[in-house]
Amino acid sequence: MPGQPQAPTELTDLDIEQDLALEFIRVVEEAAIASARTMGQGDAPKADQGAVQAMRRAFERVAIDGTIVIGEGERDKAPMLYIGEQVGSRPPAGVSYPKVDIAVDPLEGTNLCATGASNSIAVLAASEPGGLLHAPDCYMEKIIAGPACRGALDLDAPVEENLRTIAACLERDVPDLTIVVLERPRHAALIQSIREAGARIRLIQDGDLSAGIAAAIRGVGVDAVMGSGGAPEGVITAAALRCLHGEMLARLVVNSPELEERVAAMGIRDPKRIYTARDLAPGKKLVFAACGVTQGALLNGVRFFGEGCRTHSLVMTRASNKVRFVDAIHLTRPPGPRGVRLY
Ligand code: FBP
Repeated sequence: MPGQPQAPTELTDLDIEQDLALEFIRVVEEAAIASARTMGQGDAPKADQGAVQAMRRAFERVAIDGTIVIGEGERDKAPMLYIGEQVGSRPPAGVSYPKVDIAVDPLEGTNLCATGASNSIAVLAASEPGGLLHAPDCYMEKIIAGPACRGALDLDAPVEENLRTIAACLERDVPDLTIVVLERPRHAALIQSIREAGARIRLIQDGDLSAGIAAAIRGVGVDAVMGSGGAPEGVITAAALRCLHGEMLARLVVNSPELEERVAAMGIRDPKRIYTARDLAPGKKLVFAACGVTQGALLNGVRFFGEGCRTHSLVMTRASNKVRFVDAIHLTRPPGPRGVRLY
């Protein structure tokens, strides 16, 4: 009727993958740009804080009823993007937005950014409610490889056996493999075993999440990731691996009574369970979005120039099977007389 206010549109049917994937790119871009500004300043907390604040702000413009399920820490320890925090824009009266569970790592590889080293990224995964495991902030044993290895690996098998399996699945020899391992004292025996088996190793200082994604993409020079890293990173990696049809096996490292209690309180009945990517990220609809902060094997870092900056992101969806690389120029002022610069 003329003059009558329009009935509000129902937005609960927005498709997480189709309608929100590009929105999530904007969120990781903002986090990446903010942290990239601090690159090499040797100030890891500042780099992280910039990413967290920018990501939090960017969520305020996304039409979701979002809940952080993997975030910056427990409710009382982190001021924003903590587990349980609600994010998303406020809907107009009478409108409801789709409920979305979100796992974030606003700056994966904080020290990498602080030192200007490669492969730090801003990253998130999103799903319908219940589609991402609520993992405790502890370590997780992981073995991650590409689609060729699906169903072939065994987390409890000796290292050399898994290496032989990976080599067979990739139709090559063990000495032709490149395995990524976080360089940590806890991995001394693992590194020794890989060396004895004759495979090549790339030791990394940080960032087993981007390494895990690289293992499931051909041509990046990573055949598998082995060892223990963060469990929250493991869940986000699993979301990416599901979009890439890769292989991942994982188990929480529950090594103290205090941790046992926390794990039980989170509803995890069997702390020794071996999880697949599907167990960690069971969502029917999944979006994984990452933006390079520092230069990396898969994603370029943020490049700044006079009138803005350029970002490089990856957004993947599971059900709709899309892997998109997005190269974006963000102008903060009109370009000079010679037009937009690419760098
Ligand atoms: P942050 O970005 O949170 O510092 O994590 C970096 C990281 O290297 C992860 O990629 C990895 O899963 C985890 O830390 C390993 O933890 P630790 O440094 O305790 O071995």
